[in-house]
Amino acid sequence: MAEFILELQNVSRYFGSVIALKDINMQVKMGEVHCLLGDNGAGKSTLIKTLSGVHQPSEGVYLYEARPVRLNSPRDALDHGIATVYQDLALVPLMSVTRNFFMGREITKGWGPFKRFDLDNANRIAQQGLADIGIHVRDPEQAIGTMSGGERQCLAIARAIHFGAKVLILDEPTAALGVKQCANVLKVVAKARARGLAVILITHNVHHAYPIADRFTLLNRGRSLGTYLKSDVTREEVLGMMAGGAELEELEAELSEFSRADQNKVANA
Ligand SMILES: Nc1ncnc2c1ncn2[C@@H]1O[C@H](COP(=O)(O)OP(=O)(O)OP(=O)(O)O)[C@@H](O)[C@H]1O
Ligand SMILES: [Mg+2]
Repeated sequence: MAEFILELQNVSRYFGSVIALKDINMQVKMGEVHCLLGDNGAGKSTLIKTLSGVHQPSEGVYLYEARPVRLNSPRDALDHGIATVYQDLALVPLMSVTRNFFMGREITKGWGPFKRFDLDNANRIAQQGLADIGIHVRDPEQAIGTMSGGERQCLAIARAIHFGAKVLILDEPTAALGVKQCANVLKVVAKARARGLAVILITHNVHHAYPIADRFTLLNRGRSLGTYLKSDVTREEVLGMMAGGAELEELEAELSEFSRADQNKVANA
């Protein structure tokens, strides 16, 4: 088996004159959580859309199991075992847990005109698939809309694992969640890793990324600032690189200048 399941070599992506990604090199291993960090507009979404077949690289090479590939659609990526959970999740709130679990991949029973969705079996499989990652639903026929945001994220992840994903790409799975739900999602991510999947986790929150990550790739204005093993960088160093440490220091100096000017004004009044 190849050392890396996915690899990008000098990948760039342009939209007309906009340079969304420039010369990105990235290697993704099975059994690891690879965090993609970067500020707004850094190119995170463009990068995962390139990995998941929505966009194609304008330049550079995309390797899957050490062989160059061209993924023409998300379906194409899914056929390679690359599953992406987007922020809007692509779940239908009014449909049941089971219906959402099997959406587009319904199992059937019967034959010819009597062919129909095998609900009993599907309920059992969906409930088991969720239990495997530690989510217990009492009634798999309850509407998705009754589940919390964290549980929905977990359902989308369980579905990807059940249908045989090798690479799981998660776009900001913790962005809209409270502390406890966020912890649940991170636990499910850890379970996916324990099953040997490669997980690519996109976030701009270092505090969510740091406990779970094995590796970080930092993006800044479409360029990579490099990939780091967790053992090689501290949380503060990651934070500094992400925010552009120098820019933060400049801002701090500027703010203290303002408050000094204000104090002078008060003193002279
Ligand atoms: N389809 C597109 N057409 C033109 N420009 C685009 C397109 N998609 C992205 N861009 C530009 O590419 C740059 C990177 O955008 P991207 O959405 O990848 O950033 P991001 O890191 O995901 O940001 P955020 O944290 O806000 O989601 C931005 O300047 C954006 O305007
Ligand atoms: Mg984005």
